Amino acid sequence: MAPPIVPADAAGIARAGALLREGRLVGLPTETVYGLAGDATSDTAVAAIFAAKDRPRFNPLIVHYDEAAAVEAHASLTPLARRLAEAFWPGPLTLVLARAAACRVSLLCSAGLDTVAVRVPDHAVARAVIRAAGRPLAAPSANRAERVSPTRAEHVAAELDAAVALILDAGPCAIGVESTVLDATGSRPTLLRPGGLALETIEALVGHVAIDTDHRDGAQRAPGRLGRHYAPSRPLRLDATEVRADEALLAFGPQAPSGARTALNLSPTGDVTEAAAHLFAMLRALDDPRHAAIAVMAIPETGLGRAINDRLRRAARR
Ligand code: TXA
Ligand code: MG
Repeated sequence: MAPPIVPADAAGIARAGALLREGRLVGLPTETVYGLAGDATSDTAVAAIFAAKDRPRFNPLIVHYDEAAAVEAHASLTPLARRLAEAFWPGPLTLVLARAAACRVSLLCSAGLDTVAVRVPDHAVARAVIRAAGRPLAAPSANRAERVSPTRAEHVAAELDAAVALILDAGPCAIGVESTVLDATGSRPTLLRPGGLALETIEALVGHVAIDTDHRDGAQRAPGRLGRHYAPSRPLRLDATEVRADEALLAFGPQAPSGARTALNLSPTGDVTEAAAHLFAMLRALDDPRHAAIAVMAIPETGLGRAINDRLRRAARR
């Protein structure tokens, strides 16, 4: 049975908070994508998140806080982390930090690592729910493992059923791709996953950011196993410059080729930020068995284009 979708008003937020205190799971809007939230301090709630998503236990979860000050009790904020948090929280940046000695976050969230990934989302509803729950919330994207992330409440309902007690609907997510994940355990940052905060913006603050090419967004413990991710059921054909008659087209910019049986444009003006906001919803809309494949035009590797290309390359793996 599909879980109930309710408006993210005061009553909905209070109900979500009560359910989370009982150890239940809630579909939660953030500025990036919808999350599948549970009490990060409860082993049973965190285990239920892994089960609902069919997520491998070696893939750690992000823990969400309503303010930066609340992170201190659970994670060791390095001077680098403090600078990043001050500049970019609340916002689409996740910091991987050493677990603090008194950390109460379930060890399951860390998946056997001695680190914990933390962020403060830039979404009033997400922060209000964290406050109503009275504890940090573990929240991976609210899709089944390896599938396209949800950017609308209806996507969550389509992906996950009875395991979710409630889905709060706050409309489409403004950013549309997941947070940027940075390792900030040392004095220099390493990019683990490109995302909703552009690398250029981070580098303007802290200088060069190293890029970890081994981190495979959820597969760092099992190289190769989960290269495929964010995947629609139709094959993707990347860097398309023309389109075949039996394909759907995911276009970008003003020069879209004609001839597709159906076409959507990520951004007719060629704006990568707008394209990120549309990416997952358009991939879902074009994921129809009537199409032999989805042809996707090239996206520039700048700003949020880096996160878009990362998702498209993983989605294209077979
Ligand atoms: O925007 C987002 O980040 C969304 C919203 C709901 O906040 N959440 C999200 O979670 O994308 P998820 O579980 O789909 O992706 C979490 C990413 C994975 O690449 C995971 O491997 C990485 O963060 N991660 C989590 N904890 C980590 C840790 N301790 N060390 C290294 N990577 C970690
Ligand atoms: Mg995910």
